[in-house]
Amino acid sequence: MSSGRPTYYVTTPIYYVNDQPHIGHIYTTTVADVLARYHRLRGDEVFFLTGTDEHAAKVLDAAGERGLTALEWADQNATAFESTFATLGMSHNDFIRTSQDRHKDKVTAYVRALIEHGDVYLGEYEGWYDPGEEEYVPQKRAEECGFKSPISGRELVRKSEKNYFFRLSAYRERLKAHFEANPAFVRPEARRKEILNRIADAEDVPISRTGQSDWGIPVPGDEEHTIYVWIDALFNYLTTVDTEERRRYWQAQAVHLIAKDILWFHAAIWPAVLMALAECPGYDWVNLPRQVYAHSFWISEGQKMSKSLGNFVDLAKIDHYVEEFSLDALRYFLAAKGPMGTTDSDFADTAFIDTYNSDLANTFGNCVSRVTNMIGKYFGGELPTPTDDAIEGFDWPALATSAAERHASEAEALSLAGMSDAALELVRSVDGYIEATQPFKLAKDEAKLPQVGTILCNCAEALRIASILLWPIIPGKVEDLWQRLSLDYVEQMSVNEGRGDLEAWCAWGQLKPGTPIEKGASLFPRHQPTPTN
Ligand code: MSP
Repeated sequence: MSSGRPTYYVTTPIYYVNDQPHIGHIYTTTVADVLARYHRLRGDEVFFLTGTDEHAAKVLDAAGERGLTALEWADQNATAFESTFATLGMSHNDFIRTSQDRHKDKVTAYVRALIEHGDVYLGEYEGWYDPGEEEYVPQKRAEECGFKSPISGRELVRKSEKNYFFRLSAYRERLKAHFEANPAFVRPEARRKEILNRIADAEDVPISRTGQSDWGIPVPGDEEHTIYVWIDALFNYLTTVDTEERRRYWQAQAVHLIAKDILWFHAAIWPAVLMALAECPGYDWVNLPRQVYAHSFWISEGQKMSKSLGNFVDLAKIDHYVEEFSLDALRYFLAAKGPMGTTDSDFADTAFIDTYNSDLANTFGNCVSRVTNMIGKYFGGELPTPTDDAIEGFDWPALATSAAERHASEAEALSLAGMSDAALELVRSVDGYIEATQPFKLAKDEAKLPQVGTILCNCAEALRIASILLWPIIPGKVEDLWQRLSLDYVEQMSVNEGRGDLEAWCAWGQLKPGTPIEKGASLFPRHQPTPTN
């Protein structure tokens, strides 16, 4: 039932089951997780979807090589994705597999409606085909790339087949108008321009294949044809929430997170398919997603990750970082340094350690230790009572409000780096305040203890607010801190079905004098480089 709260729907690509999960998959899913948690913290009703894309021809081939059925092979690998995401604490609300009946039945119904309405028709296609990516490359693009795959660089092959086509060319004008009326539909801006340019000469797209009849979803009424894996896959975003109970999430307009490799499908083909479906009887409730956000790639130690170089940041490497630095340290690095813009980011060991030490160990962790230590030392571990001696130069309520406002606008723009920096800026102000007021010196004079108490109350309160802003990114460590500060936000969220109250919690002045403040072990111990002999 709807609570009257805003509804937020966020998705990741569904990942090919042929691959083992690696940093790229984990990155997009982490970004979605941070956004889902941020919206839950605001009190929104969130639906966060991830899953696996299973009907690719290469799944059939790989299964055959191993003497397995396609489903057995898909089961094994889908489990690897599910358990990786569970181990990494992802908070998705559902995990869709395209081999599930709940998905296949709906895709069949949608394609039947599109055929009946005339937007899907039987035709003949001949063109340049990229076998690795299982897609045709348009003539112009094939020429530009020297008839090599724009993704893998491997030779394109000439292929012709009888196919069902989606009438994409009929949607050029409507797509263009939608892009113009909704400037944030595709982000970042440079990606939006790319797609807008390509739309002008968009051709009809084949949406079926032959010769794959025992794996995939048959075209309704013509079982020789199987629905092309890409069309099948895109529909996951709709099939999962196309139920009485969940349709409101679709209505809330999805935010689709993807990387630049799969933008055309999401930003041109998918919205046009939805426009077409919305015209079919019974589907007038189908609207378009709010946004398709295409981030860039992680590269590894300065080089593109590739099978031939064997340099994937794979699960073994990821486990190493989690064990050595904590899961939250990994999440923080992905959020603060990830490729949300149009340039790629380097997953390099030195960058990881530098970010960890400077932001988590030396800034957030160290500031928490300083403040909780002093409360322990001078006030027996209880939050002192503030006096109203104003301390020149620091308007704490205003600093906290501006941090929360900046955090909200960064989150709106999907800038995870901006969100973390908005919180850290507040932490840096606490450090600056301690330097300016020197409570550790004042405490030597008993008469000045009330002033020290006021200073430490302000510090603890600012850290409380910074921790709330950091929660979507580093929830584990922040919940640890909340326990030390005797804050019951976790309980409040669980009573309220996972929803928080960001605005109310960020109001200044809520830590009560007398609250027990526990020092505890360092949240993020400084990483010392291993000495080399
Ligand atoms: N199955 C299709 C998607 C269908 S969605 C309707 C697919 N799967 S994939 O397993 O290849 O995943 C591609 C996605 O994984 C990218 O769009 C991105 O989200 C993520 N990444 C894969 N490699 C990546 C990097 N090196 N860096 C960052 N993310 C990348 O395409």
